Amino acid sequence: MSIAPLVTRGIRAMAAYHVPRPEGVRAKLDANESPHPLPPAAAEALGRELAAVALHRYPEADPVELRAHLAAELGVAPGALAFGNGSDELLALLCAAFGEPRPGKSRATVLYPDPSFVVYRIAALGHGLDPIEVPLDDDMQLDFELVDDAMAGAAPNIAFFALPNNPTGTLWAPERVAELAAKHPGTIVVADEAYIDYGGRTLLGRLPELPNLVVLRTLSKVGMAGLRVGFLVAADAIIREVEKVRPPYNLGSLNQRAALWMLRTQAEWLRARAADVVRERERLAAALANVPGVRVFPSEANLILFRVGKAGDGRAGAAWKAMAARGVLVRNFDRPGPLSGCLRVTPGTPEENELFLAELRLALGA
Ligand SMILES: Cc1ncc(COP(=O)(O)O)c(C=O)c1O
Repeated sequence: MSIAPLVTRGIRAMAAYHVPRPEGVRAKLDANESPHPLPPAAAEALGRELAAVALHRYPEADPVELRAHLAAELGVAPGALAFGNGSDELLALLCAAFGEPRPGKSRATVLYPDPSFVVYRIAALGHGLDPIEVPLDDDMQLDFELVDDAMAGAAPNIAFFALPNNPTGTLWAPERVAELAAKHPGTIVVADEAYIDYGGRTLLGRLPELPNLVVLRTLSKVGMAGLRVGFLVAADAIIREVEKVRPPYNLGSLNQRAALWMLRTQAEWLRARAADVVRERERLAAALANVPGVRVFPSEANLILFRVGKAGDGRAGAAWKAMAARGVLVRNFDRPGPLSGCLRVTPGTPEENELFLAELRLALGA
């Protein structure tokens, strides 16, 4: 007897999400984080705030204060929100709650563009749903006709659209995603607005007319990645089912308190730092485009995808290794397929970006 046959079918061939941790990192530009730590005086004030948290008690099962704050900020009813330990968890909870195969089918499906956020695939496969991946074109744009046809043919239970997209940075028309939701009312259409602070137009305003639309958000990309706080906004019928599968205490007390404190007291600082990142993104993209042999994809997020090699020439992997060895960490996406030859860099501070550009030129001999 072995436990091997017990492994969920979809995940047997998968590898675990791997986060490299090389020594001596001088510029960490690999994870679409904000490069700006909280200023010391604010960090001390936060420390005092957190000292009051009752660690011997379970957290609030329902983060009421955080819920009220975010709902007021977004102009939605508090009950329209569901919280996850990062929006990653909400992707999994959606697959858990809405994973029933359609009548006459043995498996349910989840549709998303490819390349896109890897957790869409992990969440689908981990919950026994089959992925349907709609390829982007060579400019990393989405053909909405192709998506429409695929949705009409497969009737997926869920469709995920990252607006803007990771790892490509491209923004596909949010209005077209709303159109898809209207045209396919039997599919849960998720507008993943993780990068909305860096570009794009929110679909929050379309929620009242689209009961199958979900707007997914996170605090991670704007300076609070360590808190693991994500939330979704949707109609009652969706919230009700997600709440059934949500682990009761999924947001830790320290995280709830810190998130609320950050949103209440640091909102302006957070907004200003996001604006800094957008400025640096534009500067970095222009500088990258001037490096011989580099193709830059336009980005509306806090990331820039760029191609330094051709399929199979190993140039991107070699550049990644050379930069990592010298303390500059970006993300290597070089593998056969649409991302061949591609690396992704998260804009850092001006100094980090200069260091990255210098190291990239060195690694490419440019
Ligand atoms: C498109 C997209 N959605 C969701 C997430 C998950 O964010 P978190 O789990 O930190 O909230 C990411 C993180 O990279 C992302 O790129």
